[in-house]
Amino acid sequence: MRHSKNPIYLINKTLSTYETSTYHLQVGKARRMLTQDPEVINHILQKNHKNYLKSKIVTETLSKYAGKGILTTNGDYWLKQRRLIQPGFHKQKIESLLSDMHAVIITMMDDIEAQITKGHHEFDILDEMTKMTLRIVSKALFSTDITEEQINILKEGVQSLQDITLKEVQNPFLSGWRKLSGEQKRSEAHLERIYKMISAYINERRSDPSPPSDLMTMLLDARYEGTDIGMTNQQILDEILIIFVAGFETTTNALTFCLYLVSQHPHVLSALQKEVAGIKLNSNPSMKDIMGLKYTGQVISESMRLYPPAWFMDREAIEDEYIGEEKISAGEIIALYTYGLHRSAKYWKDPDSFNPDRFSEENKSQITANTFIPFGKGPRLCIGSQFAQMEMNLVLAQFVKRFSFRLIEPYSLELDTKITIRPKHGMPMRLALQY
Ligand code: HEM
Repeated sequence: MRHSKNPIYLINKTLSTYETSTYHLQVGKARRMLTQDPEVINHILQKNHKNYLKSKIVTETLSKYAGKGILTTNGDYWLKQRRLIQPGFHKQKIESLLSDMHAVIITMMDDIEAQITKGHHEFDILDEMTKMTLRIVSKALFSTDITEEQINILKEGVQSLQDITLKEVQNPFLSGWRKLSGEQKRSEAHLERIYKMISAYINERRSDPSPPSDLMTMLLDARYEGTDIGMTNQQILDEILIIFVAGFETTTNALTFCLYLVSQHPHVLSALQKEVAGIKLNSNPSMKDIMGLKYTGQVISESMRLYPPAWFMDREAIEDEYIGEEKISAGEIIALYTYGLHRSAKYWKDPDSFNPDRFSEENKSQITANTFIPFGKGPRLCIGSQFAQMEMNLVLAQFVKRFSFRLIEPYSLELDTKITIRPKHGMPMRLALQY
């Protein structure tokens, strides 16, 4: 990573120049801190999480566009929503979504296969994974197969949401210019289309006498503790949008990086193919079958170690405190730098190399506590982590079983560092059938 404007490059350079794992900056009146120290991160996310809320970047700027859902709120409201929604993501509930998820994956893979049979071999894997994860999460939410047009609405909407949030945070003085240039209007129009689409689903479902058992029904049926009160349409809209925002791009990027890494490591591909040889292509696998694909899980973990889609997490300190030697000031904005932690030579041997065996049964006990946090930690741990793991295991297993794939060279992986990281120039691959 050598691009001098890339934030990851700049952060790594600062950390190595000062030989530190934590630094503070004064930006105007604001004090900021960045850390990749696992103890400090654990203190902030878990031990004394009450002193650290999501920052205004998320609760004021992102929430302006993505709505006020569990990802973008703090305090009592967040806790109330988390308690209400969490049961919908429990293992048994996720398991009930498995057969639909599997059906979507099979359909998508059949579609790729049909294109290959017709002689079309070149695919942008980032694009294919985007379609796949959007279809999966839409099916889990609404039990419907979304159209190509809806896919584009969602994809562009979530991307503009990241763009306008970051631009507003990095340069608030430009917001007047953005309005004049029409950029703001275009982004808002994308989002407006998403709001409309989701609202239509909510209204339809409210009057459905025999609703399917999906995440939307779970959201509609959920009642606040000890009451008979459920969420309003606006609250449901906000939570659904948040599930899209938090759930589809992260999974898309994780899968794309994973296929990239596997394409560069033939011995890993062979080991994966050996493991998945035992699963049948079109029969309905159980959660146990899928989560039993141990090596597949290791490959995904190792990919998320090297390329954690949520490359940092943000917090804001409420009160002054010391964490060891580190002085944290009230109001300080904190970046918990997952990308740096996952590649720190202090905790990982040969940190930049791709080695799924780090996560094997024999080796994983050697991983230092709190150094692997792709889904976060503490009370705000990713609510969809089981959903994502099941989904990624299924997609990767089916993909390596059906297709041989290689990167179309020349290709140089550059990272697009927004709220998530993803490959800047897509992921061009040449696919062929395995059988
Ligand atoms: C590889 C895929 C995924 C990754 C790497 C990921 C990562 C994360 C991380 C790091 C957080 C914590 C952020 C923080 O503490 O500041 C988070 C929160 C969250 N994630 Fe995920 N996520 C993934 C997939 C999903 C999926 C599939 C869903 C839903 C279907 C989802 C829904 C959420 C929600 C709602 C939150 C907010 C939880 C809260 O604040 O209480 N995520 N995710």
